[in-house]
This record gives sequence, C-alpha cells and structure tokens, in this order.
Amino acid sequence: MAHIEERKIKSGSQYRLVESHRENGKVRHIRTYLGTKRPWPKSQGWKNLSQEQVQRAKRKAARRGVRPSPNPLLPEGKYAVIYADPPWRYDFAQVTDWSIEEHYETLTTEEIKHYKDQSGVPIQDIFADNALLFLWSPQPKLTDALQVIAAWGFRYITGAVWVKKRLGMGYWWMQKHELLLLAKKGEFPTPLTKNRFPSVIEAGWNGHSAKPAVVYKMIEKMCPPPVSHRQEERDYYIELFKRGHKRPFWAGFGYEYG
Ligand SMILES: C[S@@+](CC[C@H](N)C(=O)[O-])C[C@H]1O[C@@H](n2cnc3c(N)ncnc32)[C@H](O)[C@@H]1O
Repeated sequence: MAHIEERKIKSGSQYRLVESHRENGKVRHIRTYLGTKRPWPKSQGWKNLSQEQVQRAKRKAARRGVRPSPNPLLPEGKYAVIYADPPWRYDFAQVTDWSIEEHYETLTTEEIKHYKDQSGVPIQDIFADNALLFLWSPQPKLTDALQVIAAWGFRYITGAVWVKKRLGMGYWWMQKHELLLLAKKGEFPTPLTKNRFPSVIEAGWNGHSAKPAVVYKMIEKMCPPPVSHRQEERDYYIELFKRGHKRPFWAGFGYEYG
C-alpha cells in the first residue's frame, strides 16, 4: 500500500477529466488524480469510475474554490440512539495521499467535544436523557474518543471491533481494524439475548472512511424503536457526521448528508 501511494506522488501529475460544466460564465473542469500507474485499464475510460471516485473528485474541486460552509444546523428533537463517525483530525501525514483532508474536512478533538451548529446549538442538546452512543474510533484516536464520550455527557461501557477485509494505513501497524465504542447516558436497557451480536464485525471495504452498512441493522436489532415511534414514523436514531441519504427512523447530520 505504502509504496503505491508514494510512487503516485513522486511520479508527477496525471489527471482524468470527470466532468466539465459552466459556472459564472466560465467552464470548470473536474478532474481526478491518476498518478502514472492507472488504477484501472486505459480502455475502461472515465465513464466507469466508481461513484466514490467521482464524488471525491467533485469534493476536491469544490474545496479548491469555496470555503467550507459553517457547521450545518442540527435537526430538531431529542434522540435516544446516537451513532457517530467524527471527522477526526490527525496531526500529520507523511504522504499527502494519506491525509484525511484529501477526502473531507476534519475537526480537532476540542471542536468535536464542543461542537455547536451554525445557530449555536450545542450537540449535547439533541441527546435524550436516557441514551446510547455508538462512536467510531480509529485506534490512534482512542483517548480522544473517550474524551468526546465524557464531554457529550456519556459514560463508556464496552466496545466492538470492525475487522476490515482490506489493509489500511499506519506508521506502526497497517491498520486493519477500527473500534466501535459504546457509551450510555442515564439508563438504557440491554438488548434481549437474541439481539446480541458478536463483538467482532467482519465486513468489506466500501471506500475511504465508509463504515459497514451491517452496523445499521445491528443497532436497529439491539435497540428497536419503541411502538410510539413506529406508529408515528418518528426518527428514533441519529447519525452524526453522516454521509449519504436518509434511512427510515434515522435522522442524519453532516456536510455530506442528504
Ligand atoms: C468519517 S466521515 C463519515 C463517514 C461515514 N460514517 C460513512 O460511513 O460514509 C466524517 C464526515 O463528517 C463530515 N464533516 C466534516 N466536518 C464537519 C462539520 N464541521 N460539520 C458536519 N460534518 C462535518 C465530513 O464531510 C465527512 O462526511
């Protein structure tokens, strides 16, 4: 992995055009970086780029021109089950392609702990008095994640581990797992025995920082929505720093949500 990334950087630039469009009377080109070694055969062409590659190219183009908007508005209401995958900031990356900022904006641990939306609502305001927090923590961010748990008003209980099918980056170990920490606020019943899962989640890789979809089903089994929410089709769960589209009974929040 490492030498492929370095080779790309040392080799000079080569881009594939993904899309061109007109903006304020000027033509803008959106390109994706190839390196000199193409990750797919030349005959395949750009039309066969994955959604992830296209989205990444678009995000990079947008970042070149525009400052990120202020923190989006948090949804109204109180949520009992919170699922969060924060944009952790790393202090350094020796290789630019390892930099998280190549993919999305990041926040410092202090910013995550004291997160407020653009109207000044603190993130803690949308958590119910009795709530569960499922928090993703890359191994190097473990102590930061524990700080976030406390700052958001939760206490750490236990955790699971996602073993990835693909080898990731790392300066000591090439990371092949990520932690899913569980924390509680107030009281929250444990799942029925039949709804308890093994603490090791084995699932494939869906793109940079994307978490396995199976985790939604796991959380929904562990904490089914109360009858009142089901009858009223009211959101019971919230995913913080979410990417992609709404899921039934789930509110969402994040730059790349919606
Ligand atoms: C680790 S990623 C989440 C990945 C997601 N769990 C998935 O499976 O695809 C963190 C997300 O937080 C977003 N983000 C970064 N800064 C943010 C901010 N200040 N407010 C809201 N979202 C932000 C990023 O754009 C990114 O989509």
